[in-house]
Amino acid sequence: MEKVKFIEMKDGDKEDYELLAKFEDKYIEGTADRVIRILKSLESSLGGYKVSRLEHSLQAASRALRDQAEEEMVVAALLHDIGDEIAPLNHSEISAAVLRPFVSEKTHWIVQKHGLFQSYYFNHHYGHDRNLRDKYKDHPFFENTLNFCSRWDQNSFDPNYDTIDLKEFIPMVYRIFKREPHKHVYLGL
Ligand SMILES: [Fe+2]
Ligand SMILES: [Fe+2]
Repeated sequence: MEKVKFIEMKDGDKEDYELLAKFEDKYIEGTADRVIRILKSLESSLGGYKVSRLEHSLQAASRALRDQAEEEMVVAALLHDIGDEIAPLNHSEISAAVLRPFVSEKTHWIVQKHGLFQSYYFNHHYGHDRNLRDKYKDHPFFENTLNFCSRWDQNSFDPNYDTIDLKEFIPMVYRIFKREPHKHVYLGL
């Protein structure tokens, strides 16, 4: 396999970085495959609920689809908990970051904040403030995030729900991750 000449990045030349760009483009093309693999792994994560994290994710996406949400929102509902696997304490931020180059600012914000909005349903049982979401009450996406949680997320723990199969959602995931990524996200503009 072709490799760069440098051992420290500061010594790399144009030829080295052009070579790396070729590898990176190929790797980026595989993002959807890797995301789907992580989604499938949620079958065995976090016990205690009546359904697996994967089933929960599929239910949330099924509800979004049945509510005629736009495709990127359905995919966001499907992937909103993928961060659970490696960041159980701040999973929303990971899930949102994965989607961010390919979705609108609104979709990104909803996924990023859903964990805090979702805490409305349980924080008081642990002696914490359930209304933390209120600090965003004047934010333009406040209602959207509240609806995401109330209509698709908090209610998707039902073992008897008529969940749509993962294979129905896979082409949607590929379509979203095939989009031209937002330059401002990956260049940090
Ligand atoms: Fe979540
Ligand atoms: Fe969730």
